[in-house]
Amino acid sequence: MPDAVYVKNAFARIADRYVMANHVMSGGMDIWWRKRVAWKIHSWNARKMLDVASGTGDLALEIQDACPSLSILATDFCAEMLAHASARGLPHTMVADALNLPFIDADFDVVTVAFGLRNMADYPAALGEMARVLEPGGRLVVLDFSLPQGWLRAPYRWYLHHVLPKIAGYLTQQKDAYEYLGASIEQFPQGEAMCQLMRENGFSHADVEQLTCGVVSLYVATK
Ligand SMILES: C[S@@+](CC[C@H](N)C(=O)[O-])C[C@H]1O[C@@H](n2cnc3c(N)ncnc32)[C@H](O)[C@@H]1O
Repeated sequence: MPDAVYVKNAFARIADRYVMANHVMSGGMDIWWRKRVAWKIHSWNARKMLDVASGTGDLALEIQDACPSLSILATDFCAEMLAHASARGLPHTMVADALNLPFIDADFDVVTVAFGLRNMADYPAALGEMARVLEPGGRLVVLDFSLPQGWLRAPYRWYLHHVLPKIAGYLTQQKDAYEYLGASIEQFPQGEAMCQLMRENGFSHADVEQLTCGVVSLYVATK
């Protein structure tokens, strides 16, 4: 699993160019993926939400737009990333490690994590900690990369390992951070394996929806 010190430093190095690089490399699809989550949460009439590994705040900002009455707290262990979230209009941010969240049990009714769980050093512990701060019946939303099935899998993996690091390296001057991206996607549990992990770590029910031919997966788990 990923090394926390490497991950924190890598995101600190790319923080200033993270948003731009995401939009270029996904062809703008990342905006749609986050909007999809925001619409889903809008339909739940949620009260108090925690966005874990919020980074530059892209997901929390989309949810804030879609759900203006929802109280949203954005947390991340990388202060350099979170500084962008504040500057871009998120009023409530806090530097915090997802593996040791500074909140009481059952404090939130929704927890979200976009492209963050994959970067954590211990997936079961992170899921357990997110379950702990959710009230019974509360929902966890995980949005993250996955590998498509079928004919698209081989060309996508080639893009991931050979093309993407070059483009992103040019855009951010941090090629190694994007070589790490491909490696992290390869070893991240996906589909039913992730749903099973969720059920073993604090959630009674978990479902997955594939977006963009399975390049991204959207999980909803209920405590
Ligand atoms: C790819 S960024 C995702 C940012 C944002 N959620 C988004 O959708 O763009 C991953 C973030 O996870 C954060 N992260 C990784 N491990 C973490 C941990 N243990 N605790 C808190 N944040 C963590 C990194 O600092 C980074 O900002």
